Amino acid sequence: MAGKIVIANDHGGLELKLILKADLIHMGYEVLDLGCDDETSVDYPDYALKLSSAIKDKKADTGLLICGSGIGISIAANRHFHIRAALVHDALTARLCREHNDANVIVFGGRTIGVEVARDCLKIFLNTDFEGGRHQGRLDKIP
Ligand code: RB5
Repeated sequence: MAGKIVIANDHGGLELKLILKADLIHMGYEVLDLGCDDETSVDYPDYALKLSSAIKDKKADTGLLICGSGIGISIAANRHFHIRAALVHDALTARLCREHNDANVIVFGGRTIGVEVARDCLKIFLNTDFEGGRHQGRLDKIP
């Protein structure tokens, strides 16, 4: 098994979630999917909270969040002190959010990112280590 990952989304992220979930399972990840599972309109903070709670409860160390733009669910997730959620748009931000920011949650905008770009970003995120050093000192300054 590659590891455990918790995923959550609102209605704007459902389509991309289903694609990335299949990829994760194919890669050997144990996926804890907290929904939502249909197109009914829901509130993204509820799903950010579900995912944040799962990480706090050590059900997984890593998460994936998706809403329409990725913005609302990032803002909501980052209100939780143990979450470093990074809204990623391309391969460079996928790599840097791990190397420099030790992001534990990757976020996509389901209505803004291309599917193949998101698939590529997710793989990079999962396979890139935090560099530590000066970056740890900076993280230590974030309450
Ligand atoms: C839902 O319509 C949309 O507002 C939400 O998915 C997200 O884009 C918010 O930031």
